[in-house]
Amino acid sequence: MPDDARANLCPAHVAIIMDGNGRWAQQRGRPRLFGHHAGARRVREIVKACPDMGVKYLTIFAFSTENWKRTQTEVAGLMALFRKYLEREANDLFESGVCVRFIGDRIRLDDKLVTLMDELELRTAGNDRVHLTVALNYGGRDEVTRAAQRMAVEVEQGRLHYKDVDAETLAGFLDTHVLPDPDLVIRTSGEARISNFLLWQSAYAEYEFVDTLWPDFTAAEFSRVLASYGKRDRRFGAVRA
Ligand code: FPP
Repeated sequence: MPDDARANLCPAHVAIIMDGNGRWAQQRGRPRLFGHHAGARRVREIVKACPDMGVKYLTIFAFSTENWKRTQTEVAGLMALFRKYLEREANDLFESGVCVRFIGDRIRLDDKLVTLMDELELRTAGNDRVHLTVALNYGGRDEVTRAAQRMAVEVEQGRLHYKDVDAETLAGFLDTHVLPDPDLVIRTSGEARISNFLLWQSAYAEYEFVDTLWPDFTAAEFSRVLASYGKRDRRFGAVRA
């Protein structure tokens, strides 16, 4: 198939809700964190697969604003895993041409983790092979609320007139302001809900819910999901010509 025909069929931006780590571990009689560590290995595989599959933007839901409700052991374990992952993967991400960004509110994250995030963003800012966005302490409603607050400051200080506020203006205040909207949102583990993920940005996204638990979601399955996306007819509210 010629390249431009393939480009039409391939989603430029894929967002993933990586669900099922806990159940995967439970099925093996292991603690939940064992599943999260296996999930992190899958993140590596999926990021690596993106260039060959034509995926330019990958956004992954690593920790939600609601995930703080989990036990202290699990939250602390996840935070330690994120730190370790960023330390361990930084060189490889940089050398593979991955531009890494983080979305979400950094206010509740510990200083060491925020420093690693800042450093990785800065170091990989010039890369353009794949754009990986990690949603960490992220919630769609929280993001829109923070955007509205920032916009209100601009109005209050006279730099923005309320009549000039439209959807594009608001989108410019979101954490994702430099990213295109996702074309496809995948959720693993058989759950069919969006859990506060990219609420604004996914207005016209296609959704794919797969039964596989995240630690079992291979690059081969990713490729099959992308192929099934290619058969969809996206109309963005219009009728077919
Ligand atoms: C949801 O599964 C998963 C999470 C809340 C954590 C996602 C984190 C990773 C995949 C770890 C690696 C990520 C990075 C960026 C290094 P769950 O625990 O809710 O699963 P369950 O529904 O089976 O309990």
